[in-house]
Amino acid sequence: MSKKQKTLVKRYNRVDMVLHWTVAIGFILALLTGYAVFFEGSSKLLVTEAGYVIRLIHRIGGVIFIIAPILYFIFSKKRFGFLKAFKWNKSDFGWLLAAPKHYFVGGGDMPPQEKYNTGQKMFYLFAVVFGFLLAVSGLILWFNLFSPTVGLIMLFLHDLSAVMLTLFFFVHVYLVAFHPNERTSFNAMTTGYMDREYAKDHHELWYNDVTEHEEKEPEEKVTHKIS
Ligand code: HEM
Repeated sequence: MSKKQKTLVKRYNRVDMVLHWTVAIGFILALLTGYAVFFEGSSKLLVTEAGYVIRLIHRIGGVIFIIAPILYFIFSKKRFGFLKAFKWNKSDFGWLLAAPKHYFVGGGDMPPQEKYNTGQKMFYLFAVVFGFLLAVSGLILWFNLFSPTVGLIMLFLHDLSAVMLTLFFFVHVYLVAFHPNERTSFNAMTTGYMDREYAKDHHELWYNDVTEHEEKEPEEKVTHKIS
């Protein structure tokens, strides 16, 4: 076992990381320009050059946000991996009960977790459901596909999904980049590897599964098995 393998465990493949950061770039572009449209009102932005650029960037961000997961779904072998977010078990309910004390006060035992803990599963679920609603309503508004009444409903859905995703987005970024107990996970999405101690502590069930495969097979093969 190399020094790297001793301290780190493989968590994401390159395709996972490229998809994640592409979605993040698309989302951030659409987020910033979307709030500009929301607060200024799109009719005001129609008449200025800056407004034209803002609305154009909003569409470009939206297209990136939509196309990246579609490409992933077509080309990745792990295309159904996201379904993990929909599978809940007893330890998820234990996590929900223990989480407030653990995250806001500190301490408290958390039940062992799989690759994604319950909070991450919720975020994943929200990203899929509200991301889908955001994309569909955005396309209907863009191409003006139905009657004005449907347009109004779509506008409401678009704004609602955007607000929900924004709230979860800030919680997500706070946890992975700033929370003292969680920020170690940041490296996982930039290098593909997670600190072993962190993985053992935060994702014990997943970690046990990965190490079981590691004992049987060389690292390259384990990399293909992780999901
Ligand atoms: C600057 C923005 C972002 C940063 C810094 C970031 C960072 C990360 C990191 C480090 C992970 C790995 C966590 C782990 O494996 O334990 C992760 C996972 C994930 N990210 Fe992001 N992300 C960002 C934006 C987004 C956006 C915009 C979305 C979708 C709307 C998203 C969706 C996800 C999902 C579904 C996961 C897997 C579940 C989870 O770990 O929460 N991320 N992200």
